[in-house]
Amino acid sequence: MTGAAIQVRDLSKTFGGGRNLFGKARHEIEAVKAVSLHVARGETLAIVGESGSGKSTLARMLVGLEEPTSGSMLIGGRDAGALRRSGPRAFGRTIQYVFQDPVASLNPRKTIREILDTPLTRLCGYEAPRRRARMQELLHAVQMPEDTLSRYPHEFSGGQAQRIAIARALATEAEIIVLDEPVSALDVSIQAQVLLLLRDLKNRFGLSYLFISHDLAVVEAISDRVAVMYFGEVVETAPAARLFTDPEHAYTRRLVASAPRIRKE
Ligand SMILES: Nc1ncnc2c1ncn2[C@@H]1O[C@H](COP(=O)(O)OP(=O)(O)OP(=O)(O)O)[C@@H](O)[C@H]1O
Ligand SMILES: [Mg+2]
Repeated sequence: MTGAAIQVRDLSKTFGGGRNLFGKARHEIEAVKAVSLHVARGETLAIVGESGSGKSTLARMLVGLEEPTSGSMLIGGRDAGALRRSGPRAFGRTIQYVFQDPVASLNPRKTIREILDTPLTRLCGYEAPRRRARMQELLHAVQMPEDTLSRYPHEFSGGQAQRIAIARALATEAEIIVLDEPVSALDVSIQAQVLLLLRDLKNRFGLSYLFISHDLAVVEAISDRVAVMYFGEVVETAPAARLFTDPEHAYTRRLVASAPRIRKE
């Protein structure tokens, strides 16, 4: 991989527009407006912003779940569209994601073995013995016991399920991980454990994170830099330490002021 983990230029996404079945003009929503940002190799860039500011839309475009209206995305130094066209393997072994609701993100009808097997078969093309060995490694990495494999997602707590979702994201050895509110659904004590795990995995495997959260305490704990989104735009990007002590944009100042655990005394 050469270049930044993620490099986004003038990325926009507009929903709606055009006309409905009755010829009535549909309301347009500019969910993401000309966003430019990068995530350096080995860095954690947090994206913060209120509900509806376009954070998830940005994340979904990066992982190929939503088509941009305009703009460019480089992932691991390669054009995201070209990378996707070169096949699911190349794409899935470069970038992976973890979403908010861990239990819902795991297929309820599949055992954890089957869930982890899918990327190892489809994206890595490993034979059975290698898949088995890799599953052991993955469980070990996320600190889950071996009997996890024969169980179903509903048998796990939210924190455990998120560890499994993280294991799945790591399965292909992709080094760029997009995390959309990965601890928001968890109790605060469990949040801290999962954040520690994420930090440990990042250091061990040289990962780069784009980490979305609306919780500034979480952001302060995990991020190197922070990009602030406001109505679809990135209004400020700063090193985490600077953002919390010296926010520039009016919206960022309000955000920091409303987070009592963070505010500088
Ligand atoms: N598929 C869609 N169709 C139409 N509008 C959408 C779609 N997805 C998102 N939007 C709109 O785009 C805007 C940005 O939504 P998005 O989910 O990206 O925000 P967010 O910052 O992730 O919010 P939250 O913090 O609540 O998760 C919102 O106005 C939302 O209603
Ligand atoms: Mg969202």
